[in-house]
Amino acid sequence: MSETASLRAVKGMNDILPGASEPHFDSAVWQHLFDVCGAHLGAHGFHQVLLPCVEETALFARGIGQETDIVSKEMYSFTDRGGRALTLRPEGTAGAVRAYIEHNLGKTEPLQRWWYGGPMFRAERPQKGRYRQFYQIGAELFGSASPTADAELLLLLWQLCQRLELTDLRVAVNTVGDRESRDGYRAQLRTFLAAHQGGLCPSCVRRTQTNPLRVLDCKESGCRDIIADAPDILTALTGASRQHFERVCELCAALGVPLQRAPRLVRGLDYYTGTIFEFVTGGLGAQDAVLGGGRYDDLVAEMGGPPTPAIGFAAGVERLALLCRQALDAAGGPALYLIPMTGSEETALRLASGLRERGHRIEVDVGEPRLKRQMRRADRLRARSALVLGEMELASGRGKLKELASAREIDVALDAAAVDEVLRTIQARKPNHG
Ligand code: HAM
Repeated sequence: MSETASLRAVKGMNDILPGASEPHFDSAVWQHLFDVCGAHLGAHGFHQVLLPCVEETALFARGIGQETDIVSKEMYSFTDRGGRALTLRPEGTAGAVRAYIEHNLGKTEPLQRWWYGGPMFRAERPQKGRYRQFYQIGAELFGSASPTADAELLLLLWQLCQRLELTDLRVAVNTVGDRESRDGYRAQLRTFLAAHQGGLCPSCVRRTQTNPLRVLDCKESGCRDIIADAPDILTALTGASRQHFERVCELCAALGVPLQRAPRLVRGLDYYTGTIFEFVTGGLGAQDAVLGGGRYDDLVAEMGGPPTPAIGFAAGVERLALLCRQALDAAGGPALYLIPMTGSEETALRLASGLRERGHRIEVDVGEPRLKRQMRRADRLRARSALVLGEMELASGRGKLKELASAREIDVALDAAAVDEVLRTIQARKPNHG
């Protein structure tokens, strides 16, 4: 075999292409999700930021926490030619905080709403819904400690899921409280875990001392059984932390966001303080978290910035794509596939331009001029209709627009206004039903 014959994408890293057989690898589904999420976040005052995919390794070690799975075993880290220790970003929050501090935004306008979309990298065991390069759409709101911000974000996310017509969703919430609450809870948890050391996995025996909250996140069945009886953090909350969490729950209840308290939810990153949440689905097997996030009021200061409360979330685009039937429909093909025969190319390009100005997606065939193949291409692209422009059509100024689902032919004048009207009638019908 030649060297080039064996070149393949890296395991767990996928090509997202047009017309892929699975929705989570179909670029049109991707486009739809970015459009809907971007517009929804924009309507809430979030501005898009584009941040580097590579950062200094120390940023993630400090930001996410040395004891987390992400930092301890999942990062793609390397030394570049200049001897710098760098890492492909495993998530977006640490980089966003770095940028917020580096550009001194706390001084000019601490309240900032950012959203981002792009690839993240984690060396996890790949399976459906879990990849080594995956995409997140996320947002960070800097500069507000108010429970109103938490409630607004949860409402935004609940409404986004409704807009994407995601069903079978559970909104799991918890709080990890402020520093004082967590210190108290850690002490309680250590005492509890120390009494159950025999049943814990070796990592959790170590974590009992180093970072007992991480034990609540362990996937080992022995540890899970023990954790089920662990004390609830609510018993360790300070008055301020309790009030904050109660206000978030109260606002969400009033606004119709169906929160479900998940007392063992801690999330896999160490920067959280206060409210944390995950939107969990029954439709994805083991990879059941569609999105997750929470407050991280101490992180900006811990990374060297001015004390700045913050809250954010990130959703997995592959997981959204797997769940979002609507995105699959949106991945449909052009409204019209225009097929010019020799001599009618100019008319075809002019008609296509006029129709695009009227908001339609039009593709003009520029392949080999063999009608059977051209019609097959229209089918493959999932075009709603096709129109052949030959000598006869040019001479008469009329053509037969074929609705592909029903094979019905509609006689139409070859001007943009007339074709536009026909396309709108077809569009109003349900896809794939004549
Ligand atoms: P996270 O829970 O690690 O949070 O990731 C957020 C989402 O990314 C998950 O709910 C999941 O949908 C998706 N995801 C994570 N790992 C993978 C993977 N290997 N393959 C496919 N999808 C995956 C964060 O990353 C935080 N930065 C969220 C945040 C923002 N918290 C505050 N602000």
